[in-house]
Amino acid sequence: MSSEPHYHNADLKFSDADIPSGRIAWRSPSNIALVKYWGKKPVQIPQNPSISFTLSKSYSETEVAYSPAVSETLEMEFYFDGQRNPAFEEKTASFFAGLSGIFPFVNQLKFVVHSKNTFPHSAGIASSASGMSVLAMILCDMERQLFGTLQKEDDFRRKVSYVARLGSGSACRSVYGGLIIWGETDGVTGTSDYYGFPVNEGIHEVFTDYQDTILLVDAGEKKVSSRVGHGLMNGNPFAAERFRQARANLTDLLSALHTGDTETFIRITESEALTLHAMMMTSQPYFLLMKPNTLQIIERIFAFREKTSLPVSFSLDAGPNVHMLYPAAIKTEIRQFVKNELLPLLSPLGFIVDEVGKGPEKIL
Ligand code: DP6
Repeated sequence: MSSEPHYHNADLKFSDADIPSGRIAWRSPSNIALVKYWGKKPVQIPQNPSISFTLSKSYSETEVAYSPAVSETLEMEFYFDGQRNPAFEEKTASFFAGLSGIFPFVNQLKFVVHSKNTFPHSAGIASSASGMSVLAMILCDMERQLFGTLQKEDDFRRKVSYVARLGSGSACRSVYGGLIIWGETDGVTGTSDYYGFPVNEGIHEVFTDYQDTILLVDAGEKKVSSRVGHGLMNGNPFAAERFRQARANLTDLLSALHTGDTETFIRITESEALTLHAMMMTSQPYFLLMKPNTLQIIERIFAFREKTSLPVSFSLDAGPNVHMLYPAAIKTEIRQFVKNELLPLLSPLGFIVDEVGKGPEKIL
């Protein structure tokens, strides 16, 4: 069993005369889980391991300007899309404050944060994954630059992932490119409940350039927050069986990812998506997060697959939008399918053509 890394470090503090100013910016992507994380224990420990594809074009871009705080307490202004955003400000300030044992220097600084997403936030595209992972990248990069620690890339990424997890579970998987497991997994050395672990070695080429067309059925606010949703698993009568199933699915999916077995990939990813929604439908209170057009799209994907035998499947997050997953080799056919059959079912925001990406990027 992997033990928890210890990141509390009282030395990561500036002497009073030496509190610096500067700016730092990163871009970090969202991810789509193939085996879902749904249900957790304190503190941010998943009930089952999950695996995701890191995306490429759906990302958060965040710049943090820091300067000496006026008092010995964390100060923050948060601007989203150029507008001061009190909700994000509170969320981010409390995330930073909760990290003061790991990064004692946060209490000595004033932060001015500017952030934006390339996709509509709170629409069931995991905006917390990109939003929290980018903040974790920035904090660890500040530590690395200002204190000279975390010089080894592996150590750096592992700490970023650990910190991102504390902000949002799925965020710990966005810290690397490709396929990432979060949660201790039988037979996969290196996996941990505390951080994400990339599993890109030996993946069959059909899965290395996988595409994700995100069909925006409804880009409104989420009906149920992830925090509430995870909490509902505590009283869900099917929870224990679900956690067992997720473990079995992860083992079978990993083997399909290695052999290039798209049939098994389709069966597992679709079942995972429907099971996630089934869990929400069987919780108390219950939630129905699909919209009529979500079902229409799923049925059209089934029919298209039946007719063409092309390996296209769907996934869902905790919302109504559909992630259509397929290998790059069938891009042209899928583009036609979207245009001919799916466009009328989408919200005015349409769709985002995304694909497996390389992970976060430093921009300043
Ligand atoms: C349905 O990571 O958003 O997207 O840890 O409470 O922030 P918190 O939850 P979050 O949950 C994501 C759930 C999911 C499935 C997944 O990404 O694995």
